[in-house]
Amino acid sequence: MKSYMIQGAKIIATGSAIPSLKVSNEQMSSFVETSDEWIFTRTGIKERRLLTESGKSITDLAVEASIKAINSIAMDPKKIDLIILATSSPNDLFGSASKIQNEIGAINAVAFDLTAACSGFVVGIITASQFIFTGTYKNVLVIGADALSKWVDWSDRSTCILFGDAAGAVIVQSCNSVSNSILNFHLSTDGNYADYLSIAYKENLEPHPTLNLCQGSFKYISMNGKEVYKFAVSQVPLSILKCLNDINLSVKDVDWLLLHQANERILTAVAEKLSISSHKVISNLSKYGNTSAASIPLALNEAVQSNQVSRNDIVVIAGFGAGLTWGTVVIRW
Ligand code: ACO
Repeated sequence: MKSYMIQGAKIIATGSAIPSLKVSNEQMSSFVETSDEWIFTRTGIKERRLLTESGKSITDLAVEASIKAINSIAMDPKKIDLIILATSSPNDLFGSASKIQNEIGAINAVAFDLTAACSGFVVGIITASQFIFTGTYKNVLVIGADALSKWVDWSDRSTCILFGDAAGAVIVQSCNSVSNSILNFHLSTDGNYADYLSIAYKENLEPHPTLNLCQGSFKYISMNGKEVYKFAVSQVPLSILKCLNDINLSVKDVDWLLLHQANERILTAVAEKLSISSHKVISNLSKYGNTSAASIPLALNEAVQSNQVSRNDIVVIAGFGAGLTWGTVVIRW
């Protein structure tokens, strides 16, 4: 990684946005057979935010999070060179990043969507840093935003209790290579298990009468929860260890462990496997559930706003999810 580095990269701003509607576990139990006790013990989730306002989409949340990040450092949006929107729930299959570019006035930015489910933000940060390391771009806005509430079967208690909607954004800026703060990364994919977690496109049975062409639509989220759990708990610690070892850091050097906020039990199991104290684990999923690509930047923004994370802290960020995809990025804050 370092051999290609002309400039370093660092995160200089964070922002996030959540919908106003809060839905508690008790409220969930009014329409599916579940309970606060079951949900909290199995997942650590107490409540989630859902995007229900008429006419509002994930783009609106992404714009709000981006503007907060930009305003926090009084940046001129015209200085942004690239916008990467990590999402699996755009409101336009051709992509939503260009709408964000227009709405925030980043008229000089190239903008594209990136789909890697709950690993999307980690992949986004790594993609941004590659453009910066090579000297191609100076300022990159990376957004993780998802509204999986639009893709959940609200009568399926095994999935609907898990997800919430949110957006988080960071600005990654170039710096002198000596001050580089994106220290290392590791990414993996195993498509053999793609069916463990998917929102599949299904064709209708009736083909077009002359073209013999079938059209269809996307179905609800389907998930093999147990297998996804086992995958996360086994692969994420290995990814983190590889990433740290490559740069001669050990788990003892880690100040903060920020994992994709899928399930408190996954966070605890990964930290235990790595012998990282629970005090170093950043967790806010009790308030938001699994917000997919938004979960890491949302938790990062809260940790930064509350001064949990301090300058020079080693922050290990790891995402995992559908694909299956997973990856780690090590940051010196
Ligand atoms: N309320 C009450 N009972 C429930 C509920 C519910 N909401 N959901 C399932 N149950 C029942 C099941 O029907 C089952 O009953 P049975 O024993 O009579 O058959 C029982 O509870 C146990 O169900 P399991 O699925 O075995 O429960 P488990 O302990 O595995 O927990 C969970 C399920 C929470 C989904 C867990 O497997 C998990 O967290 N997996 C990881 C999922 C995840 O993180 N996915 C997101 C990845 S990121 C991304 O890319 C989007």
